[in-house]
Amino acid sequence: MASIARLLAFGDVHGVQHLGILRASLRTVPPDDIHAILLAGDIIDRGDVSGMELVLREVTSRFKDVPVVSVFGNDEYHEVEDYLIKNFNYVVWLNDSVTVLKAGSIPIGIVGSRGSLDKLTYWQSKNMPQLESVYRRRVGVLRKLIEEVNRVADVTVLLTHYAPTYQTIRGEPEKIYPYMGCRHLEEVIRETKPDLAIHAHAHNATVTETTIGLTRVYNVSLPARKSVTYLTVAPRARLLRASGDSKR
Ligand SMILES: [Fe+2]
Ligand SMILES: [Fe+2]
Repeated sequence: MASIARLLAFGDVHGVQHLGILRASLRTVPPDDIHAILLAGDIIDRGDVSGMELVLREVTSRFKDVPVVSVFGNDEYHEVEDYLIKNFNYVVWLNDSVTVLKAGSIPIGIVGSRGSLDKLTYWQSKNMPQLESVYRRRVGVLRKLIEEVNRVADVTVLLTHYAPTYQTIRGEPEKIYPYMGCRHLEEVIRETKPDLAIHAHAHNATVTETTIGLTRVYNVSLPARKSVTYLTVAPRARLLRASGDSKR
């Protein structure tokens, strides 16, 4: 019976671009040791779906029968989402949705989303101005989903592509922070208390870990860390979460 959940997370492979780092670092992780693999988006590069096969082949050849959960990044263009869902159907794709997996006897609930940005990029404001309201609405959607998962899981994970805080994108130029993440989600994290918040997108971050309240936050961008990220998390009593323990 597992007393601890063991997760592997990464994002920003960008197809062949960082496949070498992925391959080398996957070899450092014991293959029988992982309960779930979490993909934080930008697995492919600029909508080129061929990258997904390459990356998943690396993952599944080393970790057999380990659940793979993924969110979309900005390079998994909206128009290839359906293709990815259909052609890689053994991946649990989360898009403002949740899944609950078992790590041994531990129920792990994962809330997954592309995430939100504080400001639209130039391209987005030109081509998809509706994202402004999508991003704002999503903050509330994620809050609700985390609260839902907290009720049924012993470990709650928020998995996004964009950063839910500016703290783990430090190292990037400060003026682009609003185009890389959403600070409103910090408040959501502080109040809903997931165990882990995992994101990617900030390739040049030099600070890749922080805590918000007692939530551990990880930027798992492959180029930032030069490695996949191995995480362990002990299950917490749901009561602790429900009691709104002020320490958290
Ligand atoms: Fe990226
Ligand atoms: Fe990205």
